Amino acid sequence: MTYEAVRGMRDILPEEVGCWTLVEERVRDVARLYNYREIRPPIVEHTELFSRGIGEATDIVGKEMFTFPDKKGRSLTLRPEATASVVRAYLEHGLHVKEPFQKLFYLGPMFRYEKPQKGRSRQFHQYGVEAIGSLDSSLDVEVIEVAWTLMDSLGLGGLSLRLNSIGCAQDHGRYREVLRAHFADRITSMCPDCQRRHKENPLRILDCKDARCQEAIAAAPGSVDHLCEECARHFAEVRRLLEHASLSYRIDGRLVRGLDYYTRTVFELVSQDLGAQDALLGGGRYDDLVAKLGGPPTPGVGFAGGMDRLILVLAERANAPCADERLNLFLVALGEKGRAFALDLTRALRREGVSVDLDYRGRPLRKQIAYADSIGARLLLVLGENEIESAKGRLKEMDSGVEEDVALTPAAIADAISRRREEWNSSSSQSKSPRT
Ligand code: HAM
Repeated sequence: MTYEAVRGMRDILPEEVGCWTLVEERVRDVARLYNYREIRPPIVEHTELFSRGIGEATDIVGKEMFTFPDKKGRSLTLRPEATASVVRAYLEHGLHVKEPFQKLFYLGPMFRYEKPQKGRSRQFHQYGVEAIGSLDSSLDVEVIEVAWTLMDSLGLGGLSLRLNSIGCAQDHGRYREVLRAHFADRITSMCPDCQRRHKENPLRILDCKDARCQEAIAAAPGSVDHLCEECARHFAEVRRLLEHASLSYRIDGRLVRGLDYYTRTVFELVSQDLGAQDALLGGGRYDDLVAKLGGPPTPGVGFAGGMDRLILVLAERANAPCADERLNLFLVALGEKGRAFALDLTRALRREGVSVDLDYRGRPLRKQIAYADSIGARLLLVLGENEIESAKGRLKEMDSGVEEDVALTPAAIADAISRRREEWNSSSSQSKSPRT
């Protein structure tokens, strides 16, 4: 019997982790810049949280959740997204009582039972921000700006922002009827899912990707033309502030997003590199969600992005930034004396903050050097009898082959390495990964 990872769930291997670490660091840096604090909700929640929060008629709840009973028969679900969890935590811990206005961010795995393809998996990772407690249109713009700032910090251009407003609950009611009427005489030629959506919630038809439905969807009236006065004013203000901040956008009147909690502003940041799964991130307002989950009426706005997709796009562009995770130094120990010396030196150097390793398999010189090269070590130092007797060695840069004499003391070696660190850091965006 051989074991494989579950379909749609994959390992992130050591040579990929540098990119993940860097992107996670950038998310944290940008979130800090805008004063969002990290929250880490659990991965499993009671199923009702999602069916109520995201909506029974959505594909996520209807088809895509990993749901299972616990030992007492209560229905649990692996979270398909984190907004509902953040709102649950906001209410459960009385954050709304202590300070109703909260700016939070998160990172972590989400689970959706979708058909795996490029940019789409069953376990994927999201980063996201949620600003709860204000209706201010400048907060919609701040959240969008967080997304742009993150993309800028990763050097990712060529993206575009799709923007729409779907209005408040009253507007939804009216817009649903407009859509129902629009699709009424075409629905029989549309997919079975859309025939169901036509009855349950015609807004969801606009998310459909089935080829049979595209013509009718393209001709559907946009939601912006059916907003109440207040929602129209809010949207005009969002647009004005985006323009004032020089953040470009394109209105897409049929963008409704696949979750039922949205009100007013909705948006997606898309990349041409992703094909059908082109949304790098998506979000919007959810002014009724806190109340729907049992709290006082409290508006909110946020977005979440797919980390896997972001890293895919970064990797497809030539200079994908990666955190520098290369080993500073590999000690090649020869003979018993060399090995005893190397073991002590390793310990002392680690205390000095130098990442260092040595051979544990009694391999000959050539093999040790080949191994150091294969794991991407930056420097090599051979420790044989001569070196130990003279208390001097040659520090060799693996990439350039350049050598430098160094006294065999932890302080001298650590000093030689710290002089190089700045150079390594500045070139880490092009740094090669270990070649194992
Ligand atoms: P969402 O559009 O369902 O929104 O997901 C956000 C992002 O997660 C997508 O744009 C995509 O990049 C990524 N994503 C979604 N599903 C998959 C998948 N199966 N495989 C890979 N990546 C995926 C939400 O989840 C909302 N909670 C966003 C939000 C936060 N709205 C307000 N606050």
